[in-house]
Amino acid sequence: MPRSPSWIQRILAMPNDSPAKIVGVAVLLCLACSIVVSAAAIGLRPLQEANRLLEKRRNILQVAGLMRPGADIDELFEQIEPRIVDLRSGSFSDAVDPVAYDQRTAARDPAASAPLTPEEDIASIRRKAHFATVYLVKDEQGVVNTVIVPVHGYGLWSTLYGYLAVKPDGREVVGLQFYEHAETPGLGGEVDNPKWRGLWPGQQLFDDSGELRIEVVKGAAATGDAAIHQVDGLAGATLTSRGVSNLVRFWAGENGFGPFLKNLQQELAEHG
Ligand SMILES: Cc1cc2nc3c(=O)[nH]c(=O)nc-3n(C[C@H](O)[C@H](O)[C@H](O)COP(=O)(O)O)c2cc1C
Repeated sequence: MPRSPSWIQRILAMPNDSPAKIVGVAVLLCLACSIVVSAAAIGLRPLQEANRLLEKRRNILQVAGLMRPGADIDELFEQIEPRIVDLRSGSFSDAVDPVAYDQRTAARDPAASAPLTPEEDIASIRRKAHFATVYLVKDEQGVVNTVIVPVHGYGLWSTLYGYLAVKPDGREVVGLQFYEHAETPGLGGEVDNPKWRGLWPGQQLFDDSGELRIEVVKGAAATGDAAIHQVDGLAGATLTSRGVSNLVRFWAGENGFGPFLKNLQQELAEHG
């Protein structure tokens, strides 16, 4: 007994100018394309995750001044230990996994973060996660020589996300680097300019009395004693510069990593 034609065969047998065939072929084509796109998206997810991790590691190495052209990122990263800091106490914590922990997701979760008052929220981030992953860079003897903390805050158009690297004294800046923002290229986007980034290493977050002094100023930094606490503002981008100043001051301050940075030497002696 001859088999009755399938619905696909019936559509294909219709004249080419038949509206039912045009719609049918269009629907089939959409279906086929969506299957291919979905399969590619799912199939490429592990690769995207791996690339994201590699990019994150590259940024961390860069802010610590360890990145070399052609270097193996995973190999260089072996000297870096991720640790969790409880931002409420400024102490190391084992409450969450430092590698899997996502501070951005936690900051949106009322159970894992706390709101900031307008007076506290100088970086315009609204909420602060209870925990943050910091990165300890160790020398060949296993001694910590740089500590990298994540920072973020609002510029003119966007939230800038980056890392601040400091010496174990908790005061001297090793580097500041952003890996995500949407400031205008050529204006606020100059935060990525290596020349401007080069103004940060050696700057002091705090003065000898422990007062938070670091700031990005409009125009050129002062000369003399204040120079070690000031970074030139970006020309034509005062608002982004102010945002960077505020976010660095927030994260180095009492409501950010301030207590951790002040305890750092003791923390490293106890847990390092
Ligand atoms: C299209 C456009 C894009 C801008 N992008 C930025 C920016 O990314 N960051 C910034 O601080 N200012 C930006 N500005 C300039 C600000 O509006 C403002 O004029 C500037 O921050 C003032 O800086 P100044 O006092 O150094 O001139 C932009 C202006 C325009 C017209």
